[in-house]
Amino acid sequence: MITDFPAAIIAATRKKISAFLRRDFIKPAAYFILLFLTYYLGYLSAVSKNPLCEPHRHYSTTTTTNNTTNMIKPPSQAAAVDHYQFKTRCGDPIPSQLIRQSILNRVFNGTSPYHDFPQPHIKPLLRQQRIKGWGSTGAVFKNLINKVRPKTIIELGTFLGASAIHMAELTRQLGLDTQILCIDDFRGWPGLPNQFRDIKMVNGDTMLMYQFMQNVVQFNATEAIIFMPFSTGSALETLCAWGVTGDLIEVDAGHDFHSAWSDINRAYKLLRPGGVIFGHDYFTVADNRGVRRAVNMFARVNGLRVKADGQHWVLGSL
Ligand SMILES: C[S@@+](CC[C@H](N)C(=O)[O-])C[C@H]1O[C@@H](n2cnc3c(N)ncnc32)[C@H](O)[C@@H]1O
Repeated sequence: MITDFPAAIIAATRKKISAFLRRDFIKPAAYFILLFLTYYLGYLSAVSKNPLCEPHRHYSTTTTTNNTTNMIKPPSQAAAVDHYQFKTRCGDPIPSQLIRQSILNRVFNGTSPYHDFPQPHIKPLLRQQRIKGWGSTGAVFKNLINKVRPKTIIELGTFLGASAIHMAELTRQLGLDTQILCIDDFRGWPGLPNQFRDIKMVNGDTMLMYQFMQNVVQFNATEAIIFMPFSTGSALETLCAWGVTGDLIEVDAGHDFHSAWSDINRAYKLLRPGGVIFGHDYFTVADNRGVRRAVNMFARVNGLRVKADGQHWVLGSL
């Protein structure tokens, strides 16, 4: 009798609960609790799998291991530090008078890309001269060339060669024997505006590089201007390894923050002591898309002062 008592209570309770659940008003509440539990379990599982998601960790604390005290950084801070990591050591600098030949040997198998240019199949695709740039003849070019008297200029972002050809003319006027190394993938950007529709395209391949070469030929600047038709990232890393340096470096390729940031960081490593790095779009409509932010951040991190010259920014020993 005593052992039967709890069983009777359990049976009676079950009966009561099922009768309770059968009532309509309790069903939605039960579904809601079930749904809530499912979400909560899912959330817990996501938190345990994601290392960045550690809501209860105290990042301001310090840990001591083997007598060294380390500050535990929040993940966002650790990730931000990674953006400052660029190659730190370049190859030994090669003399400036060897730079042109070195590029010809390593990029063009020892032959000038202007040799026999334009070939018969390319000629009909080109205009005799087609130049367009942005701020490409600004006072900054003359100011800096007069001041630095560069042996080597490196330009990131060349397009049709407006600024490179302008610099070639300025150095010629000053009687300088300056080599200008232009880096551009010569792709422009997806969906070039209508004003460039006259630049031919063959199977999706724009003739930008050939038209740039044609402009250089037209301005009689083939001895002053050489180029590397690659992305700025890979070209700058390679030039660093080859020990190629510049006295003046112009940055005018990608204008979003990340492109400008990595170009400036990589280019700065190629700057000779006493050299100057500068670029366009510090004061234009495109500026705060990223260029100005990248320049200001770079200056802040490296303890440099930004000088403005027209629409251009200038950093270096001035
Ligand atoms: C504003 S235009 C350069 C204009 C030129 N400096 C002038 O004043 O005449 C930008 C150029 O950068 C090039 N460019 C953009 N991002 C690049 C990248 N990641 N690597 C190589 N070239 C790039 C484009 O192909 C384009 O020709």
